[in-house]
Amino acid sequence: MADEQKKLSVQEILAAARKQKEAAAAEAASAEPASEAQAASEAPPSKKSVAPAKPAAGGARPSVQEMLAAARAAKGGAAPEPAAPVKPVAKDKPAAKPAAKPAAEKAKPAAAETAVRDTASILGAARGAKPGPITKAEAASQSKEGKEAVAVAKARLAAPPMPAKPEYAKPRPKEPVVEERRGFMAAMAAIPAVLIGSAFAIGNTTMAATGGVWTLAMARFMFPNILTEPPSRFKVGFPTNFAPGQVETKFVAQFGVWVVNNEYAGQRQIYALRTVCTHLGCTPNWLEGEQKFKCPCHGSGFYKDGINFEGPAPRPLERYAILVGDDGQIEIDKSRMFQEELGQWNDPASFVLA
Ligand code: FES
Repeated sequence: MADEQKKLSVQEILAAARKQKEAAAAEAASAEPASEAQAASEAPPSKKSVAPAKPAAGGARPSVQEMLAAARAAKGGAAPEPAAPVKPVAKDKPAAKPAAKPAAEKAKPAAAETAVRDTASILGAARGAKPGPITKAEAASQSKEGKEAVAVAKARLAAPPMPAKPEYAKPRPKEPVVEERRGFMAAMAAIPAVLIGSAFAIGNTTMAATGGVWTLAMARFMFPNILTEPPSRFKVGFPTNFAPGQVETKFVAQFGVWVVNNEYAGQRQIYALRTVCTHLGCTPNWLEGEQKFKCPCHGSGFYKDGINFEGPAPRPLERYAILVGDDGQIEIDKSRMFQEELGQWNDPASFVLA
């Protein structure tokens, strides 16, 4: 009997349990009124009409839960098979034993496999990444082997120890700072900004002065020297202003000429003598008391007409051209000179008749 119960499926067990319950209900209906009243008083008030009667005292009939528990225990934890719907079981048939037999035989290897499947392996097998589901024990062993492989790989990848540094690569001890250098740096840092500003001011001033000098030089270049020499032609007055025998010296400083009214070559002439010594170019002096021209440089002497008579002067003084202008004044032209030794004093341009 026990072997037959083990071979039954859950549906068959449930069908058997329902059958037993119906039989129990029929027996309860045929029982005494006292027992019915007792059963009604023990049942809940809301389910009085539908609730089945409890089994009689003494545990003759087990409940559905007890029967299910007994069936699961008999199956040894085999998973229920949600296969085809349960067919109503005929009362006279022995609960469709041939149909339930293959299901029970299928459940046997599952019940024998007590190890729990690993979820990750099941998912991996479903995705095709792994050959098939494995148990948790296999997964644990594989993870252990993987950890050991990772540890070995890490040990292989571990870098070798660094070689010791040579002496020249080792850091040198810091040399003590020389006090003199520190003092110099402190002095440099202590230079106030005023001195720097003064340096800039000096530079700017120098540049401005240079620019000013350059501007003055350019202006001087734009306005060259102009000699303010006296004109070569000038008037000295009317002939009557010069008395006979007179040597006028007032034109020496401005024009370098003596205007003389003297007799020369049997004629009274007014002529203009050049105030340059014929020796080395000094300016002789007219000595009214001695009636001669005396050179202060080397002592040359010249008469009133200009003829040299003493000293190193080699020849007489020279005359300028002279004429009477349209206004009657005597006009002297220094651009022309006449020399006595050359006979030029006979030229009418060298004298004016008084
Ligand atoms: Fe007049 Fe020498 S320069 S005498």
